[in-house]
Amino acid sequence: MSKVFYVTTPIYYVNAEPHIGHAYTTVMADFLARFHRLDGYDSYFLTGTDEHGEKIYQAAEKADTDPQSFCDRISQRFSEAWRVLDISNDDFIRTTEERHKAVVRRVLETVHASGDIYYDEYAGIYCVGCERFLTDKELVDGKCPDHLIEPENRREGNYFFRMEKYRQWLRDHIRDNPSFIRPEGYKNEVLGMLAESIGDLSISRPKDRVPWGIELPWDSDHVTYVWFDALINYISALGFSDDQRYTDYWPATQHMIGKDILKAHAVFWPTMLKAAGLPIYQHLNVGGFLMGHDGQKMSKSLGNVVDPFQLAEKFGPDAVRYYLLKDTVYGQDSSVGEHLLIDRYNADLANDLGNLLSRARALIGRHMDGVLPTPEQQAGDQEVIAEGTALIGRVRPLVGELRIFEALETVMQFVRMLNRYFNDEAPWKLAKDPEQHGRLGTVLYNCVEGLRIVSVLMEPAMPGKARQVRIDLGLGDFTFADIEEWGGAMPGTKMPAEAEILFPKTETEKPKQQQTPKKKKQGPKKEPDVREEKGEISIDDFFNVQLRVAQVTAAEKVEKADKLLKLTLDLGDEIRTVVSGIAEWYQPEDLPGTKVVLVANLKPAKLRGIISEGMILAADDGQGNLTLVSPAQDIAIGAEVR
Ligand code: MSP
Repeated sequence: MSKVFYVTTPIYYVNAEPHIGHAYTTVMADFLARFHRLDGYDSYFLTGTDEHGEKIYQAAEKADTDPQSFCDRISQRFSEAWRVLDISNDDFIRTTEERHKAVVRRVLETVHASGDIYYDEYAGIYCVGCERFLTDKELVDGKCPDHLIEPENRREGNYFFRMEKYRQWLRDHIRDNPSFIRPEGYKNEVLGMLAESIGDLSISRPKDRVPWGIELPWDSDHVTYVWFDALINYISALGFSDDQRYTDYWPATQHMIGKDILKAHAVFWPTMLKAAGLPIYQHLNVGGFLMGHDGQKMSKSLGNVVDPFQLAEKFGPDAVRYYLLKDTVYGQDSSVGEHLLIDRYNADLANDLGNLLSRARALIGRHMDGVLPTPEQQAGDQEVIAEGTALIGRVRPLVGELRIFEALETVMQFVRMLNRYFNDEAPWKLAKDPEQHGRLGTVLYNCVEGLRIVSVLMEPAMPGKARQVRIDLGLGDFTFADIEEWGGAMPGTKMPAEAEILFPKTETEKPKQQQTPKKKKQGPKKEPDVREEKGEISIDDFFNVQLRVAQVTAAEKVEKADKLLKLTLDLGDEIRTVVSGIAEWYQPEDLPGTKVVLVANLKPAKLRGIISEGMILAADDGQGNLTLVSPAQDIAIGAEVR
């Protein structure tokens, strides 16, 4: 296979449980791995855990356990976390595995033999959080800006890697390969670092100080850990150097990292590889940080911590993945919160994608015996067809440039176009005219075919739900090669009769309401909440009410009920019966054809023996005048009122 793609995440420290930051980087890498797999690449995806070093040793001591058992436990938590989020890594590397340690020793030996590692006494300021010596310039108010702790003064005998020697070479490489580090801002940041001396890199610690590392092959009193250990995972996992995977994948490497470990990946790692006589990676992709919904760094005390695993339990892994990919700009910091996820979920997934699927399914079930009809395309279908087949060509370069949210938005725009097509073609109307049966079949076919293309393009972001879309339509799996042309959905395909709602609408969490009882208990003097007094509701409460445009197709008086009319309403994808108290103001014969606004998600109620499925809106001036609420201008039946 000629097209090869190798993507890695950072290997995560096992001194903390998996959190949203880890999930974000891993989901991003998984998206790319899946995208390339579907695009015909031999795609290999690596993640894992970083298990040596002082802070892990200290964390194990604190937990009163030996370091290896401690690492085993937390590393397992990471593996489990990735199963929860449907991460498709091909391998999971741990730095305490022998396969990794052996490669670290080999690389160390090579660099040592070439004279690029030397021993020296070093005195400097050391941050345990970063596990490296810092320079004075890196401090902010005397503290490490990433870990907000004062570094320690240290003097000890260390082995050093002659990193400075490779500075000019690295500068030239970055300048000659403008997309080596992306997005561009980070490339410039690195060039800034390289404009001055970068010094040499301390790569070892005396073993009597920190025993939890890999012994240096030439000096058993010293161990290496963290960067000279951890970075090598990217090649040790490939079976460096005689395994075919190393030969195949290493030249196509894309590292995904967060901005906090830029220097280690952009400066330490390429110079280490160069010194070892190895080719360097292709791209370093640098992500921004996820912040709390208030834009602040997440912290328990601020109550803005987002737990992706709890969210996945509540909304499913696909919703979490989609949200992280769609609501962040890669490379920039982004605010995240549960209510933001819910808004995104309701808008894109429940309303746009889920609704289209259920409407298309409902009509095919009702009018086509659940069998996908054969289309007879007309001029009016060409726009949708052209857009659908052009989609992969539009999405591919966006993903290539890591403009992931734009890529997903491009797909969602097509979903919205399909919804418009559905509304404009009004297949529920076509269904009423036997002569239009062919046209009805064509419109429904195009919706299904559009959904097929969408599902394949959405698969890297939402593997489970994307497949579910196709299962609900009776379709199998496809690759990107299968969506370059219209017509991959085979006429005659039988849809399953039953399908669950793909994305049931969900409610935003209501922290204020949960706090209300507590407030009341605080004492009688407290002013009542003004908003409660006025009967105000939150925007989320409002969004929970589904309002849709419906057309009255029939109206009749309800027997022995002077005030009530029984209305038959057409919503486009379904017909409803509604009993309404408007008989005083409207004659039944005046109503057919009128467009009204229906509260569509009201629980059905029995009125005079008739099941009423919703309520229609009317304006009442309190002085005996009442008028039905209608859209000011004509709009398709079924349109949402927002
Ligand atoms: N073990 C090192 C990496 C070695 S790679 C050879 C390490 N581990 S870590 O557990 O601290 O994970 C760091 C990575 O987690 C960051 O680079 C980033 O990808 C991710 N994130 C951690 N917190 C984050 C946010 N709040 N937001 C986004 N990602 C962040 O460093």
